[in-house]
Amino acid sequence: MLQYTERKKSDNTICSYTAFSHRKEAQTRVTVMEEKIVINGGNPLRGSVSISGFKNAALPIIVATVLTGDVCVLENIPAIRDVEKALEILEAMGASVRMIGRTTVEIDTANVEYGTSPAALVSKLRGSTYLIGAELGRFGKAHVGWPGGCDIGNRPIDQHIKAFEALGATVSTDNGFIDVTAPEGLKGNSIYFDTTSVGATANSILAAVLAEGVTVIENPAKEPHIVDLANFLNTCGASITGAGTDVIKIKGVNKLHGCTYSIIPDMIEAGTFMIAAVATGGRVRVDGVIPKHMDCLSAKLEEMGATVEEIDDSLIVSCLERPEKTNVKTLPYPGFPTDLQPQMATLLCLANGVSHVTETVFENRFKYVDELQKMGAKVRVDGKTAIIEGVDQLSGADLKAIDLRAGAAMVIAGLAASGTSSIYNISSIERGYDNIVEKLRALGADIKKTYVAPAEQAAIS
Ligand code: UD1
Repeated sequence: MLQYTERKKSDNTICSYTAFSHRKEAQTRVTVMEEKIVINGGNPLRGSVSISGFKNAALPIIVATVLTGDVCVLENIPAIRDVEKALEILEAMGASVRMIGRTTVEIDTANVEYGTSPAALVSKLRGSTYLIGAELGRFGKAHVGWPGGCDIGNRPIDQHIKAFEALGATVSTDNGFIDVTAPEGLKGNSIYFDTTSVGATANSILAAVLAEGVTVIENPAKEPHIVDLANFLNTCGASITGAGTDVIKIKGVNKLHGCTYSIIPDMIEAGTFMIAAVATGGRVRVDGVIPKHMDCLSAKLEEMGATVEEIDDSLIVSCLERPEKTNVKTLPYPGFPTDLQPQMATLLCLANGVSHVTETVFENRFKYVDELQKMGAKVRVDGKTAIIEGVDQLSGADLKAIDLRAGAAMVIAGLAASGTSSIYNISSIERGYDNIVEKLRALGADIKKTYVAPAEQAAIS
């Protein structure tokens, strides 16, 4: 999956990144074969799994290196496609990007130029919205294509725009690009968000750290990745207080410098493994997590009859009986994360009784329900709520990974089902899960990745 080339130098493996344009040229010369995940379900997961760095923290932090114009070393970067894309974008903008081993990257943004992010790549990544705040902060203007990401709802950027305007910028969204200018320079101000948005909070921080004066953000997102972004920027010389609380205060500084920083563990990956452990009736030690980030999920799993034991930075999750029904409502942090909703709903398909899952963050996040129905799940969607009547057993089927987290839910369904499941469109899953197949196989799952034969490809497309 990783597309950089490796060479050995003393004790370290140094990986040099190829520029996006060169790689694209090379890719046109090979026929890319689709892959699928094949699972023979029914094995309880047992053993331990190490959690990778958090995608949703790595993406804004990678982009935030642009603000420093200096050399940053980021450790605990997850080896996932979204990170590859973010690094390709920075490289195309003039950054020098060097992998050191598999999970550390050195990024020098001294030569990054304004308005040079490739729109084709930007359109594939939600995290590319952060380029607007970072370009604006560094150059006083931004020119970025429309960002992409999972198709889970409308995903407007009105709150991002409101924040840039509060800082004195003018925003236009013509011809498929977002253009922001602040000819008089950015000035600190009060920003009050009408809705809690991770992206708008991160973008405001990025734009405000080098602005003149003080910025106060009210009703910000409190997610751990917002705190991680603030911690990274503070390590680079920024002055941000209150990240993770109801009010964030940013005192603008003249300049940032490079640093070495380690990304926090991925609470969504950890949650996916915790849910998979319960769904398969197994016992898994999830290592390298921040247990506090998992409190909401741990409490739900315990409510369902599972045991969650905390030892330092590990959680041991087991469930030997059939899990009981429960109700779940997604909310901004510290509420139940929308990014674990499909995985949790899949688990509830096997619970004893009728559960309700209500999605309040994104309006179009139940598309995967059709796939679960193919396996014998009894789920009905009524507006924002999925009503799930637990069944004794799911049966293997051909499934599509509709998007990243729905794809992870299909993997959980396949692991818990009887018989064989094939999951297609797995590039969606690999956007955000580092080595998921290998990690699950090490836990005893009968799972493999294989190429989709041309005839099969024609049948599914
Ligand atoms: C980020 C995460 C995504 C997660 C989501 C919610 C990344 C790369 N993605 O997405 O995995 O599911 O947070 O935890 O970190 N909204 C507006 N106006 C705006 C911005 C957002 O109305 O200007 C609404 C959205 O439509 C949505 C809600 O606010 O209903 C939350 O969206 P937001 O937190 O911004 O999500 P993302 O940053 O896109």
